[in-house]
Amino acid sequence: MLTVITALAPLALAIQLPIQSGSVDFYDPNLNGGSMLNNAGGGLGEPLNVIISGKSSPEVLTNDGIVNYARAIGLSYIISSEECLGIHLGDPQSANLGDGHGWVNQTIELREDYGNEELGTCLESIIGGNHFRVYRQDGPSAMSGALFLAVSREQDVEENHTIVPDGYNIGRDQLVGHAIGKHDFDGVHYKTVAKNITGLLPPGSVGVNHGIATDGLTTLLTVQTTR
Ligand SMILES: *[C@@H]1O[C@H](CO)[C@@H](O)[C@H](O)[C@H]1NC(C)=O
Ligand SMILES: *[C@@H]1O[C@H](CO)[C@@H](O)[C@H](O)[C@H]1NC(C)=O
Ligand SMILES: *[C@@H]1O[C@H](CO)[C@@H](O)[C@H](O)[C@H]1NC(C)=O
Repeated sequence: MLTVITALAPLALAIQLPIQSGSVDFYDPNLNGGSMLNNAGGGLGEPLNVIISGKSSPEVLTNDGIVNYARAIGLSYIISSEECLGIHLGDPQSANLGDGHGWVNQTIELREDYGNEELGTCLESIIGGNHFRVYRQDGPSAMSGALFLAVSREQDVEENHTIVPDGYNIGRDQLVGHAIGKHDFDGVHYKTVAKNITGLLPPGSVGVNHGIATDGLTTLLTVQTTR
């Protein structure tokens, strides 16, 4: 089904069919000039290893929505700032989701806050933790509304704030493990189901930032809300 849908995306563009948000999980960026690796600089990228389906409840797919959802799944995330106690936490990274917008910087970046909103991103940067960048597939040629996440688990700052060995797989599985099932935050009830997808990312380390190999899996999360 997914193959059929993704195969139809360029066709829909060619014949100017409106592609409605909410009708597909996502469009494969690889089929339309995009990439499942973002641009982390130096010709390397972080894998987009989690996708929040465009079929999720629309409120989950907004900027406020993804922040509330991230808080609901129990890792206690906070929006990242670029600096913490004089430590530069890194520059924005861009991704090309094959939606006609080309390379676009991350919409938002979240870091685990260890339960302390004031110190949170600083703590994550000092002791390491789960971390993700968000990209929205909403350009004219692939308007799924899906959110593509580059998820990783980072080292502490003494290790120069890089990714732990196997940190892309570990970060993804940690986030997904927290996400599945039922969660609540700020009056919103979430129900999340997960499905692993192969074939979007090649397994291995070719082109991957820090040369960290991945298993090539992308996990698709579909999130429904009730109030
Ligand atoms: C991303 O943001 C940085 C810093 O603001 C900027 O220099 C860069 O041009 C941006 N990249 C893209 C693709 O918009
Ligand atoms: C961190 O970076 C500094 C300065 O570039 C370097 O001297 C040090 O060896 C690096 N530490 C690790 C653990 O890579
Ligand atoms: C996806 O793959 C990971 C890594 O092999 C595994 O731990 C996880 O249980 C899988 N999830 C689903 C929904 O199949």
